[in-house]
Amino acid sequence: MNHLAAQCIRCHKVEKRKGSDIGPNLQSAGLQGRSHHLEAIVEPQKTIAEGYGSISLTLKNGQSVAGLFKSEVKRVIEIKDAEGKITKVASEDVKERTPVISTMPPMGAILTKREIRDIIEYLSTLKSKK
Ligand code: HEC
Repeated sequence: MNHLAAQCIRCHKVEKRKGSDIGPNLQSAGLQGRSHHLEAIVEPQKTIAEGYGSISLTLKNGQSVAGLFKSEVKRVIEIKDAEGKITKVASEDVKERTPVISTMPPMGAILTKREIRDIIEYLSTLKSKK
């Protein structure tokens, strides 16, 4: 909540407490294992929480669309912008796309090992069902 450099609540919250929805709500983080938490914190690009990765598309008509990659089903890509609005794009209209990436900063250089261990233990206690 209060770490000045890590600022987890700039992007996350736990249940309905103070925070933001840029990253996933961490209320059920404890249902995942400690090794997942460690990886999510020090190497965020390795696995991206579903629906929370960022992507940028360049369309054949020259427009670009960027936001959170929600899904790609039956050749329709859904992208969510910062206001929560969903844009649908037909896969065949896409000229170029970036890989889906995490906007979470890697915390290995920002937090001490002890702080990382404390966060992992804290996350392990969060077991609300979504
Ligand atoms: C700038 C925004 C930002 C900040 C700051 C941030 N995160 Fe994240 N975090 C994200 C985003 C976006 C994702 C989803 C993409 C991914 O999986 O990396 C994420 C994913 C996670 C996940 C994985 C969730 C899952 O369901 O797999 C955990 C755990 C996590 N963050 C914990 C933290 C902690 C703890 C901090 C503070 C030390 C923090 N984050 C700071 C944006 C952020």
